[in-house]
Amino acid sequence: MNRFRLAPMCGVTDHIYRGICVRMGCEQTYTEMISAMGYCCAPNQRATQELMIRNPLEKRLIVQLFGKDPAIVAEAARRMEDTGRYDGIDLNMGCPAHKVASSGEGAGLMLHPDIAFRMMRETVEAVSLPVTVKMRLGWDDRHLNAPEMAQMAQEAGIREIAVHGRTRAQQYAGAADWEAIREIRNRVSIPVIGNGDLFTAEDGIRKLAEGYADGIMIGRGAMGNPWIFRELQQLAAGREKTEVTLDEREDMIRTHYEAMLEAKPDFVAVREMRKHISWYIHGLRGAAQIRNRINRMTEPEEVLTAMHRYFEELRQAA
Ligand SMILES: Cc1cc2nc3c(=O)[nH]c(=O)nc-3n(C[C@H](O)[C@H](O)[C@H](O)COP(=O)(O)O)c2cc1C
Repeated sequence: MNRFRLAPMCGVTDHIYRGICVRMGCEQTYTEMISAMGYCCAPNQRATQELMIRNPLEKRLIVQLFGKDPAIVAEAARRMEDTGRYDGIDLNMGCPAHKVASSGEGAGLMLHPDIAFRMMRETVEAVSLPVTVKMRLGWDDRHLNAPEMAQMAQEAGIREIAVHGRTRAQQYAGAADWEAIREIRNRVSIPVIGNGDLFTAEDGIRKLAEGYADGIMIGRGAMGNPWIFRELQQLAAGREKTEVTLDEREDMIRTHYEAMLEAKPDFVAVREMRKHISWYIHGLRGAAQIRNRINRMTEPEEVLTAMHRYFEELRQAA
């Protein structure tokens, strides 16, 4: 059982960042969500091909598909299997974005259990890879149908369900409801992976120890914090967790930056690294000022030099 997973997050968990998290101890990763329709219509489109990259470091990579037409999703899954790159297919039934959910994709499928069921069954029949589903608790407070959806998933041959403990209507507001996740776990015999608001390794370990889920999936808690997976591994092994030093943080930013420059055009790497850097330095002294300066820089070397000076100042002040 791969207990510690990195949640799929479009715009965040590209193959570079996933590789970093795996090096830190993450046991299973997911691609950012990929449109089944987009892939079937234009399989060679650059943006899609980029989403489909597997980092050689990844131990178990699941490709996540979204769509609303069962036949197209099943066909996309079949073609994904043919690439030989993935260890499983995940169906997105949780994306709350208006454009996605209101057209019946992502969390919108929770309003149409009949279509969701066909999608799960047809995908399971189309591939020999394990098929999993990621869902929310329901559309809103009046439609909390995740337990029924989970039972349907099990019937359709789905191997595992990840549940984000919020409704679509909540988006990211309020707190994730882990009691509801546990209730779903009690309803089905397939594994249930809990997701939502895990920001410390201690909390993740506690959720597992208290039987809330069979595994945990970490999203925002891993932004700028790949070390959370090292900490989970340490705590799970009964050891103390290692504190992240300033040197380590600086090295991580540099390693991440260099890998991005190697994989993407400079201007893309510079732009995408701005948000990662802001997460890596979040909470450190003077983070807001240095972030504002870096956001105006366009040359990678300029950014890395500014970062180095910033960390030097932090080390001297420590
Ligand atoms: C920026 C961002 C992008 C996301 N993209 C996806 C996605 O592509 N597929 C998906 O299933 N969930 C996506 N999610 C939802 C996360 O996987 C996760 O369910 C959610 O953030 C709750 O977990 P957390 O509290 O650990 O962040 C995204 C979340 C964020 C913040």
